[in-house]
Parts: sequence; C-alpha cells; structure tokens
Amino acid sequence: MFNFSYQNPTRIVFGQGQIKELAKLVPANAKILLTYGGGSIKQNGVYQQVMQALEGFEVLEFSGIEPNPSFETLLKAVEMVKQQDITYLLPVGGGSVIDGTKFIAAAVAYAGDPWDILTRKAKLTQAMPLGCVLTLPATGTESNGNSVVTRYSTQEKLSFASPLVYPQFAILDPTVTYSLPPRQVANGVVDAFVHVMEQYMTYPVNAPVQDRFAEGLLLTLIEQGPLALSDPQNYDVRANVMWAATMALNGLIGQGVPQDWATHMIGHEITAVHGLDHAQTLAVVLPALLNEQRAQKREKLLQYGRRVWGLQHADEERLIDDAISYTRAFFEQMGVPTRLADYGIKAEAVDELVNKLEQHQLLKLGEHGDITLAVSRKILQAAV
Ligand code: NZQ
Ligand code: ZN
Repeated sequence: MFNFSYQNPTRIVFGQGQIKELAKLVPANAKILLTYGGGSIKQNGVYQQVMQALEGFEVLEFSGIEPNPSFETLLKAVEMVKQQDITYLLPVGGGSVIDGTKFIAAAVAYAGDPWDILTRKAKLTQAMPLGCVLTLPATGTESNGNSVVTRYSTQEKLSFASPLVYPQFAILDPTVTYSLPPRQVANGVVDAFVHVMEQYMTYPVNAPVQDRFAEGLLLTLIEQGPLALSDPQNYDVRANVMWAATMALNGLIGQGVPQDWATHMIGHEITAVHGLDHAQTLAVVLPALLNEQRAQKREKLLQYGRRVWGLQHADEERLIDDAISYTRAFFEQMGVPTRLADYGIKAEAVDELVNKLEQHQLLKLGEHGDITLAVSRKILQAAV
C-alpha cells in the first residue's frame, strides 16, 4: 500500500426527513444563496422543504444551473454573490448544481481570471463555505473536493479539485430520489460503478481493505441498481444506491492505491463535443479501455472476474473476456447503451476527440501513464 494522508470533512446527514435539519447545519445569521437547476426541486417538493427548514434565514436564489454546468452561467452567480454580500452557498440538486456551486465558491474568492481555476493555473487559497442537499446519487460530489465545469463556447469540459470546496455538510434523503427519471437513475448507478472501477481496476498493491470495500460497492450497485429501476419507490433500495454512490467517490477506497481515471478524461471530451450524459460516456469508454489495457490490468481483471462476477474458468483469457462483457451487459441492463454508434457517433468523430485530448495535454493517462494519444485513439475506435 502507498502512503497516504486522508481527511474527509463533510458531515453526512442521511435519511428520510433530514432536510429539516438544515437550520441546525447552516451557520446562524448566514445570508444564503440557494442554487439549483432547471426546477426539478420545485416539482418534487424539495424546494418547499428547504424553504420551510430555512424559515427565519435570509435566502436568495440562483436557478438555471444546467446539467454539465456552464461556466458562463456560473459567472452570473459569482456576480450575484458579490453584489448581494452572500455569506453561505447552498446547492440543492445533482452533481451539476453542486459542482457548479463549488466553482462559484472558488471563483468568488479568486482575484484573477476564473477560467484559470479550471485550467489549473490558479492557486486557490480560499473559497466560500457551502453545504448541500443532494437529489441525485451519482457523482460523489456531495462529499468530495472535485468540480467539473463546461465552457460551451469552446466545447471544453474541465475540472478542478481543492480541499477548500468540500461541502461542510451533505443532506442525503433517499426519498427525494423517487422522482428521478429512469435515465438519471441509471446514469447515477453507472457513474458510481465506474468511480469504483477507476480506483480499483489498476494493479495490486496488497491493499485488501481497499479492494474488498471496492468489491462490496460494485456488488451492491450490481444488485441494487436494477432494483432502483424496477421498484422505484423502494426506500431501502434508494438508500443503498445513495450511500454506495457517496462511498464510491468520497476518497476512502482510493487511499493508498493506484488510480486510473482515463475513462473519465476521455469521457469528458465526448460530453463536451457531442453532449452525451456523463455516465453514457463512461459506459462507452470503460469496456473498450479494459480490453485495450487487459495486459496491464491482468491481475485485477482476474480478481474482479472471480470475486465480483463469480467467474471460475480455468482459461484466464476467457475469464477476462467474460469479466468485460459482463460489465458491458450490466450497463446495458441499466438501460445505458455502450457503443458510440448507439448515440449516432461514427468513426469519423474519433479524430476530433483525440485532438481535444491533445489540446488538454491528456497525453499520458491511466495508472501507468501509458494511455498515450495513440492508445486513446484505439480505445475510441474500439468504442464505436
Ligand atoms: O436541473 P434539474 O431540474 O434539477 O434536473 C436535473 C437534471 O436535469 C435532474 N434531477 C436531479 N435530481 C432530480 C432530478 N430530476 C428529478 N428528481 C430529482 N431528484 O437530473 C438531471 C441531471 O442532473 P445532473 O446534476 O447533471 O446529474 P449528475 O448528478 O449525474 O451530475 C453530472 C455532472 O457531475 C459531473 C459530471 O461530469 C457532470 O457534469 N461529475 C462530477 C464529479 C465530482 N464532482 O466528483 C465526478 C463525476 O465523475 C462527474 O464528472
Ligand atoms: Zn463520474
């Protein structure tokens, strides 16, 4: 196991009816900016619950944060925070709203050009405090320091990470996920699954705690994910999916082990250029990447096939083939297609995606840094 230093400062407040705890979690006298997306929170009653819980607080609103939040939109919120002397940010929504609000928190406190934050030229020394109410289990953003923002004018989807933007608290009420459309339920399960894989499917470093935790999360998602689609009002299923998604990317399983993240980096380019949902890009890239990297990931692919999918073939190549095809079949079972062609993207599109990777200097991806542009090209070609 590698050395590590780990701290996750986010207080998780989990369970039915917990939105009412907001008044105790937000600092007294805070002037709050409630940020949200396209209005789902008004239809499912979450907005009303939040406003009721915050009675007596001064609350302003900023709505319209898009899925794959837009840099330009977020800058408008930054202006509002400055003009209105907001002291606390409260995103209520999915990954896009929370990520977008983390960016607002950092940009408000940054003196230079806010774009530098996403090109990682900026050194962040402070950020505004935030706490969140999560409505879509998927990204883990509710208790991590990551944020992904899209600049539509240049088709760039870039991220930043800072310990300064961890939410101080995250309210996770599984009942608020009942209203999710099946596509978003599926996206969430696939995203969480791939987060685990990015931290697990590398090479062994004799870290059985991390491995067994990761395998437990994968098995949970494989078991509970389809139930969330077939039995959408089942509280226990929703609760298990929600907690699994948080655990998948709150830092814990990734401590002391190598990490990959190439699937995500390649996937972000696909979203930026073609507009696919984040999880759709992962479902397309991961199976192709596992096959391309099967030699480097051999030990872990065998372990995964045996422990997660229960495969027992003597022929190891066949076992790896099956582990990859079972993974693909799981995504398809969740209703997320796994080929670029399923989204109308043809082989000719690969060049532009590779150019985007080059433009963003994503030249040595993966746990060994051996996913060069040529390898990314092969992965994308195999994903068509
Ligand atoms: O905008 P509203 O009206 O709220 O509707 C949203 C949106 O249309 C809707 N929704 C959310 N909760 C709902 C609901 N509809 C009904 N009932 C509810 N309870 O779902 C749609 C998608 O929401 P979005 O926030 O975009 O989805 P998700 O949570 O999957 O977030 C995706 C974003 O997170 C980034 C992705 O790249 C993408 O930009 N990621 C962030 C990460 C992080 N910060 O650690 C890691 C991930 O790998 C990922 O990259
Ligand atoms: Zn993801």
